Amino acid sequence: MRTLRDFDVKGKRVLVRCDFNIPLNEKKEITDDFRILQTLPTIKYLIEKGAKIILMSHLGRSAQNQKSKITPYHFLEKSGERQANQKFSLRPIEKHLEKLLKKKVKFLDDCIGEKVGKEVEKMRSEEIILLENLRFHKEEEENDENFAKELAKLGDIYINDAFGACHRAHASIVGVPKYRPAGTGFLLEKEINVLSKVLKNPSRPLIAIIGGVKISTKIRVIEQFLKTADHLLLGGKIFEPLLQVKEVLIGRPWLEEEIIEQVKKINLTDPKIHLPIDSLVCLPNLEEGYSRKAGIGSIRKEEEIFDIGPETIKLFSNLIKEAKMLVWSGPLGYFEREPFDGGSKAIAQAIVRNHTAFKIAGGGDTDAFLTKYNFRDKFDHVSTGGGAMLEFLSGEKLPGITALEKGESLSLRKLL
Ligand code: 3PG
Ligand code: MG
Repeated sequence: MRTLRDFDVKGKRVLVRCDFNIPLNEKKEITDDFRILQTLPTIKYLIEKGAKIILMSHLGRSAQNQKSKITPYHFLEKSGERQANQKFSLRPIEKHLEKLLKKKVKFLDDCIGEKVGKEVEKMRSEEIILLENLRFHKEEEENDENFAKELAKLGDIYINDAFGACHRAHASIVGVPKYRPAGTGFLLEKEINVLSKVLKNPSRPLIAIIGGVKISTKIRVIEQFLKTADHLLLGGKIFEPLLQVKEVLIGRPWLEEEIIEQVKKINLTDPKIHLPIDSLVCLPNLEEGYSRKAGIGSIRKEEEIFDIGPETIKLFSNLIKEAKMLVWSGPLGYFEREPFDGGSKAIAQAIVRNHTAFKIAGGGDTDAFLTKYNFRDKFDHVSTGGGAMLEFLSGEKLPGITALEKGESLSLRKLL
């Protein structure tokens, strides 16, 4: 697979797919610019080499994230027509990039069309254009061929630096590289290198710590780590269903019916698996301020688990000490609310105390947790991927990466 270094980009229009899907507050201020910072090496390299740089990204959730209320568009009540939601404009990112790069960035209020074409034609070396949100067009998520062609026309070379979106077979990810010479940016290259090492050639002992809320998003990575890790530590809400199917926890509602059979297949007597032995339990919705420490066998039907308990912290910390490689995805408790952040904090500290292990974290809320408690810098690699990282670590081929590999062997299609 080619990387940015393999291209002579001087004077060329380089179309870069970034993942600028970052959190914004009500005032449209960026509350965490990690993903933008991570892609700066690619952008700076292109400036240095005299390329014409065209940046594109999505912002806001994909319709493929079921039940999502934060999609970057809405439907008009009367006509049912789909309309871009300006709350998800990439404009705030233009200003932020200008600050970070100390350089002018030109923002265009669409990502395709005549006006965009003209602006791109006029570009000079080292100039930067930022296109408006790709997901304002439904054709992006539909992986529409014509939409991909329209995008491809804007560049001479296509660079994918959007690791976080590589699990999506969308037009800007898998469509464009059919038409243009394509390669990875430095961020995507780094993510692939680090995460491939976990999969194929880990330092041992390799310890994986998996938490989070929904077992459906973690089940495949759990199955994979049961094959490749030396120890698999489970916490968060996801271990409840494991105990439910083995009838250790009973009389509780099953939230994710569709994967019950898959969960049943996990062998809990596998010596690699370490489940919490105690926990912090409360009544649902934290009613009446009731809370107590409970051994796993003694949790009552009406109680809910909100964090791992002190004995589990000791057990997990002792294992973590020995690791040479650590991968962590998913908080171990309801970290947004004190005191249920205690388990995740204690485990993060145990990880940080292990000075010799290569430490990797990422996936969904993990990043939010690390940021909140200033742990991010203490890891060797914090992935910019949520779903993408989990799919990669499950051993699956990500469509965005496959598209770059294929682009090399296929002769490129003609645009017109
Ligand atoms: C993410 O935030 O994980 C990526 O930007 C992908 O977003 P998506 O899940 O909405 O496709
Ligand atoms: Mg500007």
